[in-house]
Amino acid sequence: MTFNPLKEKGIPLEKQIRNWNQIAVKPYNKTTVDCYTRTRQILMNGIEVEAWGFKHQLNRFAFDNNDKELIAQISRIEDSQQATANWMTPKDQSVLETTLAYEQVAVDLTAWLAQNEPDDYIKETFDFGLLEDFDHLYRYSQFAYMTEGICPDSIVDNQTDVIIGRPTQFHHNDNGLRIRKHYDKKKTHPQTKVNILTLLSAEQQTHNFYAEHGFMYGSQSLRETYAEIKDVEEEHVTMYESLIDPSETMWEKFLIHEFCEVCNYYTCAEDEVDLRIKKIWELFYELELGHLKIAIDLFKKYEKRDPEEIIGSTVVIPSRFKSQKKYVQKVLEKETSKRLDTNGRYNVTDQLEQDWPSYKVQDKQNEINSPSENAVRLAVIQNDRDIVHCDEALKNKEIELLKSGLQKKSNANNTVFPDELDELIKKSNEEKLKKEKLI
Ligand SMILES: [Fe+2]
Ligand SMILES: [Fe+2]
Ligand SMILES: [Fe+2]
Ligand SMILES: [Fe+2]
Repeated sequence: MTFNPLKEKGIPLEKQIRNWNQIAVKPYNKTTVDCYTRTRQILMNGIEVEAWGFKHQLNRFAFDNNDKELIAQISRIEDSQQATANWMTPKDQSVLETTLAYEQVAVDLTAWLAQNEPDDYIKETFDFGLLEDFDHLYRYSQFAYMTEGICPDSIVDNQTDVIIGRPTQFHHNDNGLRIRKHYDKKKTHPQTKVNILTLLSAEQQTHNFYAEHGFMYGSQSLRETYAEIKDVEEEHVTMYESLIDPSETMWEKFLIHEFCEVCNYYTCAEDEVDLRIKKIWELFYELELGHLKIAIDLFKKYEKRDPEEIIGSTVVIPSRFKSQKKYVQKVLEKETSKRLDTNGRYNVTDQLEQDWPSYKVQDKQNEINSPSENAVRLAVIQNDRDIVHCDEALKNKEIELLKSGLQKKSNANNTVFPDELDELIKKSNEEKLKKEKLI
């Protein structure tokens, strides 16, 4: 269905307050939930956190008290939507289980966006970030197994591969290199604006989740891994927000934020397989249309421009969750050696300057060791080899992938090098054969 969101009315703001029972809805069952219901729930929490935070920023810029009141009414609703989305998480879902789901969101969402992004440079940036979150899923899967005996497929449901990506120890960059070239707001497609804001919200929430939960385990290696990956998510927020045209006004941004929420709930409602949760997405879609209407009125009042110039006249689909194994493999086999370079460019490991600015950051941050490399070392001790879940053909490419991901300089002291990993895998296979013979 296509429709013009500028013409829809939705539920009026004065009718949007819900009671506590409607806000704190029943959690899903972690063992029976569809993995993409969970990714939608995580994403929409992130979208609402961003929507709420932005509205408070906007309110600090608004002079008119009537406008301030309207904005405050909307941020209160965003806040209640955030609680509903986030509190669908059941209390027995562990921090590590939720962490695996967060990285599944990042991988499958970024892959979807990259394939539906009209701007080639922004697509390239999405592909770049994709391989980093893909590697986070692999690193956390080692700890999920070691700490709680969890197989990653109990969360990702065989929909997302778990294998090495661009190694996390190399995701730490000089901040200047994370700044990418921004789009031109006069030329860019509304889809691009919504794509970036959707991903930015997801990355910001991933950062916040690790910041709020990374201390909840006793293992020092795991705590350090959360700290390490949280720092990468912080870089991801910087990277994706740098794609936005800085000349967008606050009223323009308000419009894009509400449009982004409309499009995401529209997609969620279309795709949701849990009928109880589908009803919530449908309701929230109607609430967002009510917010969009106010954003349109305020935009017209202050900017005297046509909102269609900013958000177009049709809905876009920013978050269709489905298995992206094929696409991710394609990027994986081409781009683990890719690195950020100055002035928004990309480069490959072989061609980096001797004084590439990120070497300095990596040398300092990984000076004792890289916790995410420890993840693999420790898993090998407990499990013969690292935890990898994908088909045999991809599994057989692991050493090759690792080789192309390494750098000439600044490999941490505890790096698991290809020869060593190869040795461990061979040993593990021999052991397996021996055991089979004994049986
Ligand atoms: Fe909202
Ligand atoms: Fe990540
Ligand atoms: Fe990320
Ligand atoms: Fe909203």
